[in-house]
Amino acid sequence: MRAQDLFDVSGETALVTGAGRGIGLAMAQSLADNGAQVALADKDMERAEVSARSIRDNGGRALAISLDVSKPDAIEEAYSRVEAELGPVSVLINNAGVAHRDKATRLAPETLRKVLAVNVEGAVMMAQEAARRMIRDARSGSIINISSILSEIPIRQVAAYGASKAAISQLTRSLALEWAKHDIRVNEIRPGWFETGLTDPFLKGPGAKVMAGQNPTGRLGGGHDLDGAVLLLASKAGRYMTGTAITVDGGHSLGR
Ligand SMILES: NC(=O)c1ccc[n+]([C@@H]2O[C@H](COP(=O)([O-])OP(=O)(O)OC[C@H]3O[C@@H](n4cnc5c(N)ncnc54)[C@H](O)[C@@H]3O)[C@@H](O)[C@H]2O)c1
Repeated sequence: MRAQDLFDVSGETALVTGAGRGIGLAMAQSLADNGAQVALADKDMERAEVSARSIRDNGGRALAISLDVSKPDAIEEAYSRVEAELGPVSVLINNAGVAHRDKATRLAPETLRKVLAVNVEGAVMMAQEAARRMIRDARSGSIINISSILSEIPIRQVAAYGASKAAISQLTRSLALEWAKHDIRVNEIRPGWFETGLTDPFLKGPGAKVMAGQNPTGRLGGGHDLDGAVLLLASKAGRYMTGTAITVDGGHSLGR
């Protein structure tokens, strides 16, 4: 099959959470550039609107959705809106996530709860609703969970975040196993360090240079470094891939 057919996503309707900025926005842009219709869900509606408009201005089909993934009651309605305006979701990208920076001895229960509510509970509920609708209509689909290299590598002061991403890795395998018979693929992308609003507290000032220096390629991730992995998992090119993780980190997890 020719690459353009293999990686074609023009028939897909993708829902990307946390797509108002950063990695989520870049993935939504890439899917739209390649013909998918995209719903950009974010708890910050203004951000989602601006981002969806930028995709539309570029000739893509994009819809902004106001959604806090940690509020389970809002999830069904968000899917129904996407379904009414764009059609049933065939690709879900569980990208919305929050980080923190606390010494483990000072990690407050509310921080732990918030990180798990968004990064884990939100991803579970979003995947559940996607799968329910796919199974209802006997449609195949692709669920892509954005974890992190920190799901395996511990670093100081982000115990809750690391634990949440490790949970996403296991969740990916569990859901993949359970839903394979419905032709619903569930995979994981593990990004390394990317310069976004989320990593500002870690990379501000000299931090970015130090972290880039620790990467074998000498740079942090950015822009559209995840496009290849996303298009692979969202398209026919990844049709026999499920329950797997793709690390996109410029070799960071290899060490120096
Ligand atoms: N930036 C990195 O280096 C990096 C590395 C590995 C993994 N990740 C993961 O990638 C994902 C995106 O990270 P990013 O760096 O683009 O972050 P970011 O902070 O730049 O963007 C995250 C977006 O998610 C939205 N969001 C936050 N909580 C939400 C909620 N409850 N419901 C809906 N939307 C919500 C925010 O409003 C924001 O627009 C996260 O899951 C993060 O853990 C990032």
